[in-house]
Amino acid sequence: MNPGKRQSIGINRSERNWMLVSLAVLALFAAAVAVGSLVNGFRLPGVHQRVDPRTVASEGEFANPGLREIAPGEYEAYLVSRQFAFEPLEITVPAGSTITFFVTSVDVQHGMKIQGTNFNVQVIPGHISSLTTTFHEPGRYPYICTEFCGLGHAGMFGHVIVEATG
Ligand code: CUA
Repeated sequence: MNPGKRQSIGINRSERNWMLVSLAVLALFAAAVAVGSLVNGFRLPGVHQRVDPRTVASEGEFANPGLREIAPGEYEAYLVSRQFAFEPLEITVPAGSTITFFVTSVDVQHGMKIQGTNFNVQVIPGHISSLTTTFHEPGRYPYICTEFCGLGHAGMFGHVIVEATG
């Protein structure tokens, strides 16, 4: 044994290097999540509230699905999903509008994705899914069911129509 040599707990050099690489990758992922949420404004769709899927469409806001203007340019949209349609099938707002969607299912699991936006939620019986999106550009934005929910799944879609202002 060489008395001048520093004692170590015996981590092999290449093992140590790979541990450092692993920590660097973790730090990179944490930084990506931080930038996504703080800079780009990415938000996870949340479960807004639990409901009874047998009665949700016959009482409260979902008994009359559709758009409500809560302030100039600010809307809430209540949508009921069922095999094989969204109700309502069309939502029309002026360009620049911000819509907070509340979506629920009365039968099986559906999904809702609005093309051309980052809006994408699971729609689960017994839950209200909620997410907010702003529509800057005029156009037709299809919302489609993203979970296979039965034979009519492929025909389950509607449109957000954003009209030019002025
Ligand atoms: Cu609803 Cu697929």
